[in-house]
Amino acid sequence: MPNIMHQFVPFLLLILLTIGASCSIQLYVLPFPTLFNNNADGSRTYPYSSIQQALDHIKRNYYHDDSTTMRYTTINLYPTYHFVDSTIKFDRVHSHTRLTTMNAEDTAFYEELIANKNSYPRLPRASISGGIPITGWTSVGNNTYKAIVTQPIFVNQLFVNNQRIARTRIPMNPSEYLQYTAPLQDPNQARYGFQYAEGQFESWPLDDAMVVVYHSWTTSHHYINQIIKSNKTVLFTNPSNSPIGIYPIQAQRRFHVENLCISFVSNSFCFVNATKTIYLMTDGSYDPTKVQIITPINEFVVILAGSDVTNPVEDITIDNVAIQHSAWNIDRTQQADYQAASFLTSAPLYIANATSVIISDVEISHTGSYGVWIREGTTSINIINSLITDTGAGGIRIGQMAAPVPTPTSSIHIISNEVSYGGNVFPSGVGVIVHRAVDVDIVDNSIHHHRYTGVSIGWEWGYAPSYTSNILVHSNYIYNTGQHILCDQGGIYTLGIQPGTIITNNVIKNVFSYAAYMWGIYLDEGSSHIIASNNVVYNIGWGGLFQHYGANNTIINNVFARNSEIQPPHPDDPIPDGDLRIMNTEDHLSWTFENNIVYDTFQGSNHSAFKSDAPDVRVSFNNNVYYNPYNTQLLFGIQQTSFIEWQKTGQDNSSIIADPLFTGDVNQCDFFTVQSNSPAVKLGFANITKLTKWTPGCGTDNVVNDNQYYRW
Ligand SMILES: *[C@@H]1O[C@H](CO)[C@@H](O)[C@H](O)[C@H]1NC(C)=O
Ligand SMILES: *[C@@H]1O[C@H](CO)[C@@H](O)[C@H](O)[C@H]1NC(C)=O
Ligand SMILES: *[C@@H]1O[C@H](CO)[C@@H](O)[C@H](O)[C@H]1NC(C)=O
Ligand SMILES: *[C@@H]1O[C@H](CO)[C@@H](O)[C@H](O)[C@H]1NC(C)=O
Ligand SMILES: *[C@@H]1O[C@H](CO)[C@@H](O)[C@H](O)[C@H]1NC(C)=O
Ligand SMILES: *[C@@H]1O[C@H](CO)[C@@H](O)[C@H](O)[C@H]1NC(C)=O
Ligand SMILES: *[C@@H]1O[C@H](CO)[C@@H](O)[C@H](O)[C@H]1NC(C)=O
Ligand SMILES: *[C@@H]1O[C@H](CO)[C@@H](O)[C@H](O)[C@H]1NC(C)=O
Repeated sequence: MPNIMHQFVPFLLLILLTIGASCSIQLYVLPFPTLFNNNADGSRTYPYSSIQQALDHIKRNYYHDDSTTMRYTTINLYPTYHFVDSTIKFDRVHSHTRLTTMNAEDTAFYEELIANKNSYPRLPRASISGGIPITGWTSVGNNTYKAIVTQPIFVNQLFVNNQRIARTRIPMNPSEYLQYTAPLQDPNQARYGFQYAEGQFESWPLDDAMVVVYHSWTTSHHYINQIIKSNKTVLFTNPSNSPIGIYPIQAQRRFHVENLCISFVSNSFCFVNATKTIYLMTDGSYDPTKVQIITPINEFVVILAGSDVTNPVEDITIDNVAIQHSAWNIDRTQQADYQAASFLTSAPLYIANATSVIISDVEISHTGSYGVWIREGTTSINIINSLITDTGAGGIRIGQMAAPVPTPTSSIHIISNEVSYGGNVFPSGVGVIVHRAVDVDIVDNSIHHHRYTGVSIGWEWGYAPSYTSNILVHSNYIYNTGQHILCDQGGIYTLGIQPGTIITNNVIKNVFSYAAYMWGIYLDEGSSHIIASNNVVYNIGWGGLFQHYGANNTIINNVFARNSEIQPPHPDDPIPDGDLRIMNTEDHLSWTFENNIVYDTFQGSNHSAFKSDAPDVRVSFNNNVYYNPYNTQLLFGIQQTSFIEWQKTGQDNSSIIADPLFTGDVNQCDFFTVQSNSPAVKLGFANITKLTKWTPGCGTDNVVNDNQYYRW
């Protein structure tokens, strides 16, 4: 006992000293400028009317503070919309600050002061909005209304009653496409247009139209330069990344056209830039003059960033607020096409040159690009218990693309979030993407309904230094990825050499591309030194595991079930590739594959369990259990031989083909545990922890009735 006291005394003293020298400031923000205009000082009695005033207050005090005083400021926001005129930026001088919604008592206190209580939306918590309300709607008949915006903006997103409204498009059904007739011959010209079919373009109002062209893993977004009627050629103002038409299987000749004021369906809008007029067709259930209608104007809503890496902003907490309505803009000559929508440069929550940041219980939604971007010079950034949903691209973006990395992104924790319904403007957005970063934990998240990859790790195609290591992808539930829209994607996708990267205890299900190339765990170019263990991967359109090329990966104690069962959707599509596959042969060990269960449920005469595209691929397989309950013959290796022949090559010498005897109901896709007399147990398989957020059922049906954008 005395010993313990002895240890604690200096610690207690330290606490007392800290408290003694610190001061805690409460600032209040009530976004009704007329109430306190002249007296506002941020106090409870005279609150500020904007977050910016609170930040200015902190900055003034920072310079006047005696430097030994530890100051901690809480900015308390009234629970309504806080429309920011320009981006809210926390610089170094705003360190040691918390931004939150005020408590119920303070809310009640102000509610009594607000004269016209019913003239503003009272929300569950404060919304920091990058948008502006659109008012002044007048009817033009047929459930259609118009409003004119006074700002010099191009309206390309609209939110009515907290719901995204579709931009008008042709074809109107989001799971249908137009087809052009031919690509242009010259490879550079072919990035700028194509030859269109009869009935397309010539009668459409094209000034404000955007053509969205489908490639393989991306879409490109184009404004129109000219139409040449004599040979039916459309030319764009901005290029795609690769020539349009080079992916005939993945893309076909698909495109659609957005923002034509001739193709209304209920709950769609278009914008005429010349007259700055928005046209909105409702579904008849609401009156635009009586509901909250918002269009984003700021690409960045909240920035946490010191001006350089040696002067970071420190110790910021943002909790119990929403950050919403961020804009996207594409310059008329800018290329808007690259993997993972990485050409985007903004995010509504943007963090750089920052340390010790907690984003907790925050909703980030209705965005034009990714929800969050954690960029250069960042360490100890935590995003927890938050909801990132209805994003224009993907959910969370981490790290930088340039190599070598100028200042690191490290110690990033993405824990227990829901990241959902992405790709609403740029379908190639990824649920959670790590470009180049080190020490990143992506744990216990639910990541679902994206149109491209669920989780993407690494940004180096091949064996050059990747500046990416120690990425933990643990206990995430990743599902309904791909949505039959783009191709060449995965539940979890990796690139490059990544020492210390561990992909463990995730559930990946329902990964579907438009036509081809879709895998549960996708180890793409150069993926090396990665461990994948204890994952349950099922209902994947193609293989549960695919390695393009890479070295020294370890695949241990996973379950790969019910993969490559679909029939190819179009006549020319390649057929699915089976359960496991390696594409390239290289002069090193590609992977070690041990203690796994491959539960193949294809019904037919044969199905590929492991396929290698090239001879002499260097692999090490052992102690695995393979099974097909329908007695479909499982095939292995370059020759696609029987299991017995495969074993003669020295592989899988202790593995067997036998029922793994799952404990759970395989008809509910409960593949986590096996009975104690399972042959897998004898070979070393250990039960996998069932994720609490996992839901049983084997449905691959992606139709979501409550979200119009996820029909296909
Ligand atoms: C279409 O016509 C334009 C103008 O005559 C010409 O420059 C272009 O090369 C033609 N394109 C094709 C594909 O023939
Ligand atoms: C009214 O809207 C419907 C649905 O978009 C459309 O089919 C119809 O032609 C429109 N009627 C008029 C008079 O514009
Ligand atoms: C919209 O119109 C403005 C002029 O009012 C112009 O500067 C801008 O480039 C136009 N935007 C687009 C995307 O065409
Ligand atoms: C972060 O700091 C670096 C220099 O250390 C600077 O180049 C960069 O612009 C800063 N980022 C932001 C967002 O201010
Ligand atoms: C794979 O591991 C071996 C043995 O540790 C090592 O020699 C080789 O360099 C590694 N390959 C790569 C590409 O890192
Ligand atoms: C697999 O089965 C298909 C028909 O179901 C057959 O065409 C093919 O030759 C078989 N392959 C092998 C290696 O047995
Ligand atoms: C299986 O092969 C490994 C080496 O690949 C060897 O160590 C082991 O003894 C073999 N086991 C059997 C049962 O042949
Ligand atoms: C695996 O889990 C099942 C179901 O809970 C249980 O019956 C079995 O004993 C477990 N096996 C091991 C090795 O713990």
